[in-house]
Amino acid sequence: MHGFGTTTFGELNAADYDTLHNPDTTKLSVDAIAQIAGDGAQILELAIGSGRMALPLAEMGFEISGIEGSTEMVDLLRKKSGGNDIPIVIGDYADVAIEGPFDHVFLVYNTLFNLPSQEAQLRCFKNVADRLNKNGTFLIETFVPDFSDFENGQRMRTMKIDMHSAWIEAATHDPVNQMFEFQRIRITPEGVKLVPLPMRYAWPSEIDLMAKLAGLQLKSRWGDWQGSPFTNQSKMHVTVYEK
Ligand SMILES: C[S@@+](CC[C@H](N)C(=O)[O-])C[C@H]1O[C@@H](n2cnc3c(N)ncnc32)[C@H](O)[C@@H]1O
Repeated sequence: MHGFGTTTFGELNAADYDTLHNPDTTKLSVDAIAQIAGDGAQILELAIGSGRMALPLAEMGFEISGIEGSTEMVDLLRKKSGGNDIPIVIGDYADVAIEGPFDHVFLVYNTLFNLPSQEAQLRCFKNVADRLNKNGTFLIETFVPDFSDFENGQRMRTMKIDMHSAWIEAATHDPVNQMFEFQRIRITPEGVKLVPLPMRYAWPSEIDLMAKLAGLQLKSRWGDWQGSPFTNQSKMHVTVYEK
């Protein structure tokens, strides 16, 4: 999507991120990461955002650092309790340098797919592998691509409707470039707000290969944050790689 860069997500979403992006899996995912990382682990969160995951982990006593592309998102985090104590480097998590090494790195909430190409996603894996201690782990959470609602490469969904507003999501699918392009259209009495989001998806097998090329091996894969087995019915996966 031409014009969508590393800072765009925050520019468009920071104002209402915490209200609209509050999945009921946060506690489960924080607890799972704490367990996988292990007591005393030095942790790095890629795309730390407004601290949804990092702040509870810091409260549990972990030393946690972050990388984030958007200063608007980091401003949200800094205003919260404990937010000023977390070291954060502003930059593209595919490339940016950050002091390490770390015992555990994680990238959740489908954010791997915010990187716009296979090359960028591969650079991300290499960047992580370079910063992990021996036997360090890298956890990612992404959806499993699903085109079942698409017809002729496009889909429209009504996300919310009430007396004064309609939120509609238009999406296109490009199977060659493995791209979903979303346009969230919010029609309210104040006008129309457009919130675009491109996502370059990858199958679990391709993600495993990117990890392997970076020197990481598959350690475990779940079909949800409860630790259910990953099957051909799974809508998402939580995967851990090891150096
Ligand atoms: C869906 S949010 C996830 C935030 C946080 N990890 C969470 O779970 O709530 C995606 C975040 O990734 C950031 N982001 C997207 N692309 C990025 C990139 N290439 N480099 C750094 N941050 C990026 C956005 O600014 C946003 O804060």
